[in-house]
Amino acid sequence: MELIIRNARVNEALVDIGVENGKIKALAPKLAVQAEREIDAQGHLVSPPLVDPHLHLDAVLTAGEPDWNHSGTLLEGIALWNKRKNDLSYNDVKSRAHKAVLWEVSQGVQHIRTHVDVCDPSLIALKALVDLREEMKDVADIQIVAFPQEGIQSYPKGKELMIEAMESGCDVVGGIPHYEITRDYGVEELDFVFELARKYGKLIDVHCDETDDDQSRFVEQMAALTIKYGLQGRVTASHTTAMHSYNNAYAFKLLGWLKKAELNMITNPLDNIVLQARLDTYPKRRGLTRVKELNEAGINVAIGHDSIMDPWYQMGKGSMLSAAAMALHVAQMTGRQQMLDVYHMITSNSARALALPDYGIAEGNPANLIVLNAADRIEALRLEAECLYSVRFGKVIATTRPAEREVVCGGMVQTVNLVK
Ligand code: FE2
Repeated sequence: MELIIRNARVNEALVDIGVENGKIKALAPKLAVQAEREIDAQGHLVSPPLVDPHLHLDAVLTAGEPDWNHSGTLLEGIALWNKRKNDLSYNDVKSRAHKAVLWEVSQGVQHIRTHVDVCDPSLIALKALVDLREEMKDVADIQIVAFPQEGIQSYPKGKELMIEAMESGCDVVGGIPHYEITRDYGVEELDFVFELARKYGKLIDVHCDETDDDQSRFVEQMAALTIKYGLQGRVTASHTTAMHSYNNAYAFKLLGWLKKAELNMITNPLDNIVLQARLDTYPKRRGLTRVKELNEAGINVAIGHDSIMDPWYQMGKGSMLSAAAMALHVAQMTGRQQMLDVYHMITSNSARALALPDYGIAEGNPANLIVLNAADRIEALRLEAECLYSVRFGKVIATTRPAEREVVCGGMVQTVNLVK
């Protein structure tokens, strides 16, 4: 064996994980053989890698350029981005995105879906990210979505740019129907998106209904088209914050169709908890989609990070556990099973949305896994635990030395570890 991870907590049980040729060869309570390298997980949680299914790598780490977002609003963010966009260059995008991917990988992520703004005749950001995808494949799989930030119908040559983006190597067709000038434009945009996905045989992931407007109802159109095109399971609706504001009768009917269409739903709690409901006085809406209700209806829900220090969200450190902790609180998913379900939203549910093959800790699968500094999944969420080891195809690609805390109390040094 080239690697054995001993005393690994996998689905509550303690096991040894043996790795050969980059794959999981054996999974048993005690492996009697020796390996070239051994890691003692000391009973810590060993999990499949975290997945970030929604990230804007072209905008990461631009907060404060050319100015900070003083109001913290979406509108000021858009105005700032329109200025910053003029300074985009191949090296600028690539170096910032490279850094952000390293941030995420160091915290246990190995799969990323990034949206890239293709409302740019030079497609410079796309070119940078296509190259980055190849250069960083040792540490992460990156899927690229052609994302028309300023619309397809409403932006000059929007359709031509989307086609060029798909020809240039995008993995997924994106969209933004609620941003188009009229509702009709939004519907026409979705027709185009589905046709493009059919033509290129690609997945779909649309920014959909990211607004507080309870009349924004493009996700129903996505469900209808998914059924019409027979693309069940291959289509994702991201954000869908308007669903927070729908009346319950309509929302209940909608959930049934989302389930039939097997739509994947991605919520982005870090951005949307600060960007939505800005025009509300009190009571103030939370502005996330109906995470708990979608999950209870058996619809696949995943959590994305969305932004890392960009004009819309000036916070963030690339931690999927932070994003999940935010979702858990805002969606009031604090029941024990609900907390476990939230953990699935940054692992297996996201993997399903991204159609990742061979994901999970099982014999025969690639040896991709992480050791978190926590006893179980709920503790990992509570502590936003450090990723002690990240292993990819049997190789250790990231390590973290955990914090050590001491308090001098009554003249005695006491070690503190935040565990009950
Ligand atoms: Fe987004």
